[in-house]
Amino acid sequence: MSVFCQGLFEGKVVLVTGGGTGIGNVIARTFGEHGAKVAIASRKQVVLDAAKEELKANGIECIAIACDIRKPEMVALVVNEIIAVWGSLDVLVNNAAGNFPARIEDLSANAFKTVIDIDLQGTFNVSKAAFDAWMKENGGAIINITAPYENFGVAWQAHAAAAKAGVVSFTRSAAVEWRPLGIRVNGVAPGGVLQTEGIDRLQESLTNKPGAGVYVEAGDIASAVLFLASDAARCITGENLYVDGGATVDMTKMAAYES
Ligand code: HXC
Repeated sequence: MSVFCQGLFEGKVVLVTGGGTGIGNVIARTFGEHGAKVAIASRKQVVLDAAKEELKANGIECIAIACDIRKPEMVALVVNEIIAVWGSLDVLVNNAAGNFPARIEDLSANAFKTVIDIDLQGTFNVSKAAFDAWMKENGGAIINITAPYENFGVAWQAHAAAAKAGVVSFTRSAAVEWRPLGIRVNGVAPGGVLQTEGIDRLQESLTNKPGAGVYVEAGDIASAVLFLASDAARCITGENLYVDGGATVDMTKMAAYES
């Protein structure tokens, strides 16, 4: 049973990038379960269509549009379509990301750039489109899915850690610039989330066996996102909320990577 009241996001329109799978899909479903109309966007239409059917089967109004967030023109089409159909865009969750475990010596310039382009540039692209098309005039809430890495060196993750650190920085700057317009911008930094593509990919480079570290569930991330999008967080902006079960604050519990 949810700790949030059922109609908390009734009448609100939410866009979740990467909402077809993993954490993004759980975030989208959780918003929908609390009354929101939910748009999901990611690269593969077939994945989106399956996710849309599942959301609809649960009584959730859903739009699913294929989009590569690295392409500003595609992003603008998605945002404009949402506003044309539903008349607003109240909450944006920048969740889409790309990652793989690799040592710096094994990263090509294009490999590094690819992750920066998806995670950092993509977050900028979608935020800017939401700002231009709706939030500049109407306010809103943006929640960026970050990582609890910006204060640490993380072996095998130089590309993703740098990209996510950039997202944290962008979160703070956008929060400051857009505060007068009624737009709050926050981050949620997940620890290791079980049963996601991200943690599956990283698992091979984790020294700790599954369960030896601290893991959280996608629903824990969704709860934090809903809180930050809600009026309960109306005075919170520019924050980056760690949802990692205390892994980061306790260095002995931090998942260790081979170096
Ligand atoms: C080294 C690699 C590599 C690997 C790809 N590359 N995988 N280099 N080790 N394991 C290199 C390629 O060789 C290529 O460089 C460049 O990266 C781009 O690869 P493409 O496959 O052409 O890119 P693209 O098709 O755009 O796919 C992007 C992707 C892919 C990130 C590489 O994995 C993807 O689409 N991922 C989306 C789903 C995903 O990653 N989900 C997990 C997110 S978890 P060259 O030089 O050969 O051209 C997450 C958690 C973050 O984000 C938390 C920690 C910060």
